[in-house]
Amino acid sequence: MKDFQRVLDTINETSNNAVERGTIANYIPELAKIDMQKFGIHLIDIGQHHFSAGKGAERFSIQSISKVLTLSMALGLIGENIWERIDVEPSGDPFNHLSLLELENGIPRNPLINPGAIVVADILVSQLADPKKEFLAFVRNIANDDSIDYDEDVAQSERRTGFRNYAAANLLKSYGNLKNDVDIVLDFYFHQCSLSMSCEQLANTFFMFINRGNCRRGNTFLTMGQVKRINALMLTCGFYDESGEFAFEVGLPGKSGVGGGIVALLPNKFCVATWSPGLNKKGNSKLGMLALERLTTETELSIF
Ligand code: DON
Repeated sequence: MKDFQRVLDTINETSNNAVERGTIANYIPELAKIDMQKFGIHLIDIGQHHFSAGKGAERFSIQSISKVLTLSMALGLIGENIWERIDVEPSGDPFNHLSLLELENGIPRNPLINPGAIVVADILVSQLADPKKEFLAFVRNIANDDSIDYDEDVAQSERRTGFRNYAAANLLKSYGNLKNDVDIVLDFYFHQCSLSMSCEQLANTFFMFINRGNCRRGNTFLTMGQVKRINALMLTCGFYDESGEFAFEVGLPGKSGVGGGIVALLPNKFCVATWSPGLNKKGNSKLGMLALERLTTETELSIF
């Protein structure tokens, strides 16, 4: 077994000493309150051994990382029909851009940019009797952790300032690709993004993507075919217009969030989550990306 703990300790030390830490997301005012100095990392291997360093157990706002979980739930509910409303190509654009959506007649490029995730949210709102409650139960179930919850302050903060998401939802509606009321869909979307989780909880939740769709307790949530598709989307679209750079530097499928979290994984081997609130210019955690590049370089473990 690789000496993961030694590598994580070194990464944590280097990250704590880093001077250039990026900038915090301030378009969601509640996120701007977080201490920039924090850094955490947690890794779970396929044998369910845990390795942690820094603030690996402290909770933060998972934001766009939640898009992978809503997609997983929607795929389970409506299967391949989902691709009639969302494409599977990288956008090459920032996560909140709208120009392609107009050019491509209201079909979002992929489910991991905001317009795509809003269509996924719309599907869940249509399919579920109590979407917020049932999605939370789904996440708690995968994670085997009933303490996971929404952060109401973060959700309300984004509701007040989420102008681009309102624009995206309205544009989708104008093309007939949003079936429910804009406010209802966005209320669900802002709540999914507000989920508060630690690196440890994220690594536990994403374990099913390294374990053929089976969670840590062995329950199956996704078929192998669905896992293949979701991991492929994380590799090609998980970091927006920095997805190529992430594959180039790190070499793993993964997903970032503007709360500063990143989850990345190597099927059949390990799943790792990092947290550092400072973002680079593309909206991905600056130290998180550097940490993961070090991890795959030092352990010589990547999909390539
Ligand atoms: O919709 C938004 O803008 C945020 N709730 C999530 C964006 C996000 O996390 C982008 N990730 N790097």
